[in-house]
Amino acid sequence: MGNGNQVSSHWASSTGGPVHVTVGVTGGIAAYKACTLVRLLVKAGADVTVVPTRAALSMVGRTTWEALSGHPVCTDTDQDAAHVNHVRLGHVSDVIVVAPTTAHTLARIAAGMADDLLTSTVLAARCPVVLVPAMHTEMWLNPATQHNVGTVRGRGITVIEPASGRLTGADSGPGRMPEPEEIFSSLRSLLADHQRNDFAGVRFAISAGGTREPIDPVRFIGNRSSGAFGAAIARHAVARGANVTFVAAHVLPELLRGLTGAAIVQAGTAAELKKQMETAAATADVVIMAAAVADYRPEHVSDAKVKKRDGSPITLTLVENPDILAGLACNRSDPRQTIVGFAAETGDAGSSVLEYGRRKAAAKQVDLMVINEVGEDRGFGDRETAITIVDVSGAVRAAATGTKDELAETILDTISAQRGGTL
Ligand code: CTP
Repeated sequence: MGNGNQVSSHWASSTGGPVHVTVGVTGGIAAYKACTLVRLLVKAGADVTVVPTRAALSMVGRTTWEALSGHPVCTDTDQDAAHVNHVRLGHVSDVIVVAPTTAHTLARIAAGMADDLLTSTVLAARCPVVLVPAMHTEMWLNPATQHNVGTVRGRGITVIEPASGRLTGADSGPGRMPEPEEIFSSLRSLLADHQRNDFAGVRFAISAGGTREPIDPVRFIGNRSSGAFGAAIARHAVARGANVTFVAAHVLPELLRGLTGAAIVQAGTAAELKKQMETAAATADVVIMAAAVADYRPEHVSDAKVKKRDGSPITLTLVENPDILAGLACNRSDPRQTIVGFAAETGDAGSSVLEYGRRKAAAKQVDLMVINEVGEDRGFGDRETAITIVDVSGAVRAAATGTKDELAETILDTISAQRGGTL
């Protein structure tokens, strides 16, 4: 189990002192939830400065923020001007989080405005910035808002996707601010990655999602992989300093939107994925094949839509696709390249999940094989997954249960150890 939700007594910055967190609060009803976030941060040992907008103070007052954080609270750059607060906060913060972020403040940040202390601080920031939007569904889905989200993500700002659920009044839908505990956990994980920076300059080629093999112009053979695991690994690798090429086979768009900082290449079929991964792997230090590749494809792809045959059966001849992972492992030119495969197994009477995975690691000659049990209700989209990581000899290098984010960290730690820390 990962420790993302545990609160330690002292949350240290890379320089050894307490972590400095600036919590921006804007004028949304979810501002009250930011009180809990501030409390969690303070309890974890962080030094927290709250920067509300003027509108936010009509939701939760200055006294509350000052009492919770133990620091004076300003909304504008001309208050406490002697300390040049926006530059100071931008420089001393280890992370800036704006929770909730209204559509209006998102737009101001996207436009690079600096008309209050919060937007000026974001503009002066040298640290990671995390926005947690909360607004009505229509406002969130409005192309103007979505464009602003894309703009700020393009500049390296993390935008946490809003949750779906009850909004102000009787409305319900995407736009709700995630719970403070979830935001806290994301901040811890982001900051831990950022401070570690242990993959600085390391080049990753990561495939994710599931290939689709066309039958005719409208039909295909596919699988249920969303790409969530590969995307989580890519996100954490980027946060730890890696240069990531992400080869996406039908990965969910919201996962791709969250992949700020990775170069994204699309691949539809196994043949396309093979080509793209071979190109990406040629200059990679670490290759991860998290994609679910169709083992077979139709021998012939019909140019026109296949018609029903009045009750008589249809025969589809399938031919085997090349094994991309085995090919990459066999043809690697740099013996120091680390190659990681995924074995999604169900186990059967003949063999256990672990045994099947071990055999696969040996057969494909990979450095590490991440084995997980899948089934109708396991592995695909689950919150909690169990993995075992074995090396080419079948020796267990790690075993863990957790969310995909937590397991992504376990996988990256195991890769780091496999490479002997000499990344
Ligand atoms: N893989 C691949 N090319 C294929 C099939 C699989 O690169 N044509 C990779 C997957 O990306 C994964 C690993 O091999 O990293 C194991 O995939 P899996 O489907 O579990 O293994 P298969 O070799 O297809 O074996 P089987 O389906 O018979 O269990």
